[in-house]
Amino acid sequence: MQARERLIFALDVDTAAEAEHLVKLLADEVGVFKVGLELFVSAGPEVISRVRAAGARSIFLDLKLHDIPATMAAAARAAARLGVQMLTCHADQAGIFEGVDLGGAQLLGVTVLTSLGPDDLRNMGYQDELSDPQALVVHRARLAMAAGCHGVVCSGWEARAVRHALGPEALVVCPGIRLPGGQAQDQKRVMTPGGAVAAGASHIVVGRPIRTAENPAQAARQVINDIA
Ligand code: C5P
Repeated sequence: MQARERLIFALDVDTAAEAEHLVKLLADEVGVFKVGLELFVSAGPEVISRVRAAGARSIFLDLKLHDIPATMAAAARAAARLGVQMLTCHADQAGIFEGVDLGGAQLLGVTVLTSLGPDDLRNMGYQDELSDPQALVVHRARLAMAAGCHGVVCSGWEARAVRHALGPEALVVCPGIRLPGGQAQDQKRVMTPGGAVAAGASHIVVGRPIRTAENPAQAARQVINDIA
């Protein structure tokens, strides 16, 4: 896989016009464009076709679905009808999609958000071994794959353990990526692009380090070089 194909850019903006602008600017550098909650809720489902028309060849709809089975299945079918290539749900609920036609979309289980550290996990009620993000991530990654996911989302810190647990075929997608010396902002478990891929990530998700750079295309090329 080329370095560029491993780069997922997060379109964390709130209008379709801004998203289209970023896709046009970055279509040569970025393999996959990610539409997350902010853009989907602000601009509506039609943003998917607009992003595609602007030049995105592959779209990742990151809704991190989490609800009762009937609602999850209906939402996933509706998302699949939009023609996206990747879709996320929380890993502990991936089994709900058994038998649901996802229209060829690859399903990724979100293990533990990269904004959470051990103290957050203890506050949420995870005790002993499972308050260690890596242990909880690997546990949930196994659940997700057993439930039929094509891969998981985890931080670069856990990529090696997850790759070891899931084998060579699984998609291992890592957000919380920062260029060397970059600010972590609200992320807690951050890693460099090259560090995450060397540890076993198939893809990395990058948002602010590209979006808020003075020259986003140049920042994207820096990310690709770091991977390569
Ligand atoms: O701006 P930044 O590079 O931190 O953006 C990271 C992106 O990855 C955001 O769109 C965020 O929603 C997403 N994400 C994450 N942690 C996860 C799953 C997705 O940061 N576990």
